[in-house]
Amino acid sequence: MCGIFAYVNHCTPRPRKHILQTLVNGLKRLEYRGYDSAGLAVDGGSNATPTIDTKNNNNPSAHIVMIKQKGKVKNLDEKIYKNQELDFEVEFGTHVGIAHTRWATHGVPNAVNSHPQRSDKDNEFVVVHNGIMTNYKTIKTLLEGHGYEFESETDTEVVAKLIKYLWDNKENDDVSFSTLVERVIQQIEGAFAFVFKSRHYPGQCIATRRGSPLLIGIRSESKITTDSIPIYYSSAMKPTLERTESRSEVVTQDAEGGIEFYFASDASAIIEHTNRVIYLEDDDVAAVVKGGLSIHRIKRGNVNESGARVITSLQMEMAQIMKGEFSSFMQKEIFEQPESVVNTMRGRVLWDERRIHLGGLADHITEIRRCRRIIIIACGTSYHSAIATRQLLEELTELPVMVELASDFLDRSTPIFRDDVCFFISQSGETADTLMALQYCKNHGALTVGVTNTVGSTISRMTDCGVHINAGPEIGVASTKAYTSQFVALVMFAMMMCEDRYSKRQRYDEIFDALKALPDLIKEVLSLDQEIVNLSEQLHKHKSLLVMGRGYNFATCLEGALKIKEITYMHSEGIMAGELKHGPLALVDSDMPVLMIIVKDQVFGKCQNALQQVVARHGRPIIICDKEDQESPKCASHVLRIPQTVDCLQGILTVIPLQLLSYHMAVMKGLDVDFPRNLAKSVTVE
Ligand code: F6R
Repeated sequence: MCGIFAYVNHCTPRPRKHILQTLVNGLKRLEYRGYDSAGLAVDGGSNATPTIDTKNNNNPSAHIVMIKQKGKVKNLDEKIYKNQELDFEVEFGTHVGIAHTRWATHGVPNAVNSHPQRSDKDNEFVVVHNGIMTNYKTIKTLLEGHGYEFESETDTEVVAKLIKYLWDNKENDDVSFSTLVERVIQQIEGAFAFVFKSRHYPGQCIATRRGSPLLIGIRSESKITTDSIPIYYSSAMKPTLERTESRSEVVTQDAEGGIEFYFASDASAIIEHTNRVIYLEDDDVAAVVKGGLSIHRIKRGNVNESGARVITSLQMEMAQIMKGEFSSFMQKEIFEQPESVVNTMRGRVLWDERRIHLGGLADHITEIRRCRRIIIIACGTSYHSAIATRQLLEELTELPVMVELASDFLDRSTPIFRDDVCFFISQSGETADTLMALQYCKNHGALTVGVTNTVGSTISRMTDCGVHINAGPEIGVASTKAYTSQFVALVMFAMMMCEDRYSKRQRYDEIFDALKALPDLIKEVLSLDQEIVNLSEQLHKHKSLLVMGRGYNFATCLEGALKIKEITYMHSEGIMAGELKHGPLALVDSDMPVLMIIVKDQVFGKCQNALQQVVARHGRPIIICDKEDQESPKCASHVLRIPQTVDCLQGILTVIPLQLLSYHMAVMKGLDVDFPRNLAKSVTVE
């Protein structure tokens, strides 16, 4: 979904080309989120004053230039350098640049609808936006009534015009930029992260969010004087909103010293510049003014609000967001799984003590053990990880476990009670449907537990407790290593729940030992890569591919089919083998490729029945089976033999051949595996 990146250099002279490159690189880091156009805004003029008048913060050349382009960030980059108006060598002592990748929601992808959106033909105020406003039509009608003319089909343009309206009608000339933004967001309903720039406030950058993520990176050689930013509160809609006096800055003002700020929708765009970041909370209005960062917010009733935002250190490494020797992020992430599952278990599976300790749940585990039912809510791949582990959760907790798709859960207004425990699984921690379900469960008084891969994400902050899966950044749009880590995290949770139960001890021990062996078994499965390349050669030209299995491996069928659909654009269906005779068998003939997962577990016999049903219809199935299985391969056109583990972890090993298969088929079809069409990494709209 849309990505925001902004860069402020204060008292840190930078040539325009450096500023533009920083913005474009920031957008490139956000490309994986999915987008269809890109744009940016910087200060214009070919004779920009090399150093800013820091006392008055006045840059006389601060007219704003916007460059926007449909398509990839590289197209935008090319367009920038065709711009005759810009002198790329001119140096700016202080400068604010804002940039954006847009995923079309209101209006087709084109340059006019791309962001930044502007207040008027002179670009007095420009803004980039992630999210969707729900009341934009009402505000638009109001502004049109006041004579403001709109040029795009976007909801965001309303924001640019609204701030101009508030500027045009301000009560006095001292009104601050952040005050105007606070007034804007009081009028807006829906989800947003905004970053604003204005020629009326040169050197200033204002950012705010509600429901969409936004963080600020800070880089300075020497000037960071605090570990947290105090928050200044104001009351809603008072005309005296100016708080130029409330300077809660991250640096002491010093014209000698420089500081840089990076605003982004996610950390992967910031980590190459700094690891010192602040995550904004909903309704925070962060203002960079004269190199100082302050945060303001409107106090809402008696809500107990925290008084500061902490500057935290990103744990991410630069190498984690680079492809290295791999040809795509997806391939890299598939091959990282032997390590990523170890990282999920690190410090949690206490090998010597034979215990599981999930620190983020420790304070709540007694309450969770006493709950009436567990409800796991998620979307897409994350939902599949819940399907994959549900049976084990039921077995080890002896509680009813419901697994829900977030969108459907909300559509049904599912009854939720105070003694329910609701889990929210999300790689990004920002998925809009999952977030709304979380808010719904909080409103109904349930205990909420987050399972995410993104420290600082909204889900990890909004839930009462949780587990970070620690899989490392997942850049490829198709989720791979996050799935196996979610799987492991949920297995660990199930084990922690039954630690004291004598009756479960044998099962616990069996799974515990299997967790230890898991990374090596994953490596063994990955060594099938070349065999899977050969299989992909046979399959990639087909229109359709059915994936069948049951029991613990049904989730693998759903997840494998999703991977195939999303990156190869082939039709694929995950079919519960027990349902075959209730309809899907009609699809089977000698032309339809069928992939069957048959492992030696309690449903092995039933899977054999399904296999016979397929063979009887002239199907020649491709079978993923245990190395020791002599029976299933007899009926197969192709066999992928995988190592055996305990039944409840087998799904981790069976899904990997399907990840590889979808990857290789997509490559053979010449498709962009990391950026499949119509998909976004972080689905921040409903
Ligand atoms: C599939 C995929 C999506 C996501 C889904 C939920 O490969 O990536 O199906 O799993 O959009 O995203 P998160 O886990 O970030 O909530």
